[in-house]
Amino acid sequence: MLARGSRALRRSTQPARYEARRARTAPVLASAATSVAGRGDSPAHARMASAQSRRSLQQKFYENRILDRFTAQDPKKVSLRQLVLFGRQLTADKLIASANYVRSELPVRLAHRISDFQFLPYIAGTNPHLKMVYDLYWRAFDEFRKFPAIKTLDDNRRFCDNMKKNLLEHSQVIPQLGMGVSECAELVGQDEIDLFMNQMLVSRISRRTLAEQHISLSDQFDGDLRAHLSPLPSEGFAKLAHAPPGFATQRIGIVRADCNIARLIHDCALHAAGPFEDAHHLPPGSAPQVIVEGHTDAELMCIPAHVSYIVHELLKNSISRVMERFAPRLDGCDSSPHSRRTEGRGEPAFPPIRVTVCSSHSDIVVRVSDQSGGIGPEILPYIWSFTHPIKAKYLRNFGAVRRMEARMDEGDDAVSPLMALGFGLPMSRVYARYWGGDVKVHSLPGYGVDAYVHLPRLGNAVENISNRRHQPAAPAAANTTSHSYSG
Ligand SMILES: Nc1ncnc2c1ncn2[C@@H]1O[C@H](COP(=O)(O)OP(=O)(O)O)[C@@H](O)[C@H]1O
Ligand SMILES: [Mg+2]
Repeated sequence: MLARGSRALRRSTQPARYEARRARTAPVLASAATSVAGRGDSPAHARMASAQSRRSLQQKFYENRILDRFTAQDPKKVSLRQLVLFGRQLTADKLIASANYVRSELPVRLAHRISDFQFLPYIAGTNPHLKMVYDLYWRAFDEFRKFPAIKTLDDNRRFCDNMKKNLLEHSQVIPQLGMGVSECAELVGQDEIDLFMNQMLVSRISRRTLAEQHISLSDQFDGDLRAHLSPLPSEGFAKLAHAPPGFATQRIGIVRADCNIARLIHDCALHAAGPFEDAHHLPPGSAPQVIVEGHTDAELMCIPAHVSYIVHELLKNSISRVMERFAPRLDGCDSSPHSRRTEGRGEPAFPPIRVTVCSSHSDIVVRVSDQSGGIGPEILPYIWSFTHPIKAKYLRNFGAVRRMEARMDEGDDAVSPLMALGFGLPMSRVYARYWGGDVKVHSLPGYGVDAYVHLPRLGNAVENISNRRHQPAAPAAANTTSHSYSG
């Protein structure tokens, strides 16, 4: 962390050097379309290409001035508690205020990441995968910054439709980033690309959190309106209106104020086992047992989709490695449901995975312990890296992945749960750190792995996203209205 922090500091104290880098990289990111359009041998073609390139540079100069106005602003960070307090007893006015907060916040957060692309070394700007993400971000930045102020519920519906379209379109981002960084790491420098990737991913989580929370609140509000107008219970969130007292107040948008962590772990275990049982041609129920113990009543305020991603990734690692290690024990067993027991002695074929939950007033720690044999020394030092050659090799498997949401319940045409991408651990840590938590992994050589997830319980921590990485000289945008998200 110190090394990373000092790099970022050095960067901000050397603006001239980084501006010079931007002057080299930004036109490359911007000019691919122009250079294709300008191909040709005749003098007329050459004149056209040069005029186009002049226009493109002028255009980029203008666009960068707009971008700088947005990167001059810091993101207005929220905490889970703020989201919960705001979303309780929703009114049309509050919903519209939330829409305008998200509308003004998304372009600011996107602008910071677009600027990160521009400050990458020149060679990274020529990478087609990174270029694709850069273009997607520019388009979304332009759309959101131009979206008119939201004044009515109808405006809000249009805004939500726009965000849904963007969320879907941007499900290509993770595979493209994965391919891009795996191809650039050796050319650019691992530390720099790792920092870039971590910033991209946490910012992506933050933008999706704001967008999904607002969409969910809007659906909830529409559902409640429909339930109010109709004598019959309608779809979706309207059901909450008929839920037992207390329940509806505990799920606010995508946030849960009282998530029982043991239940969530059981869900993740169920989800994780199936693909590995299929891969080993074993019947359901054959995978290693997941035992959840400790403070199993513990609850926390969280976005369940974030926590379940982390727990699911850890369990997948444990289940796959334990099954691989102990699969030879199954030799000679039939494929009946009893096959998880070794023949003769009747003991389980696979040692269980123990998940211990402990909870204090302010924090929850989850330990996932397995007997996988530990993490090999050739990979252990690099488990958090996106870019070490050994990890870049895994990341290239993203070439076969069309889209990835980084959720436990990826759609069917998304990534196969069995594919090794070297992405699960670093992404889990990005999720945990976003809300002020962490993930740590200890390897016990020849025995197994203990992974620890630390999560704040009370939802007080604000989003852990970095502010500006580069310091543009321009003043804050004069024509963007500022909205904040407070209860
Ligand atoms: N519980 C575990 N037991 C043994 N090895 C593990 C465990 N968890 C992680 N590893 C090692 O760390 C690597 C990286 O894990 P991860 O980031 O989840 O990526 P992936 O599972 O896609 O390879 C794995 O490929 C594996 O070699
Ligand atoms: Mg994994």
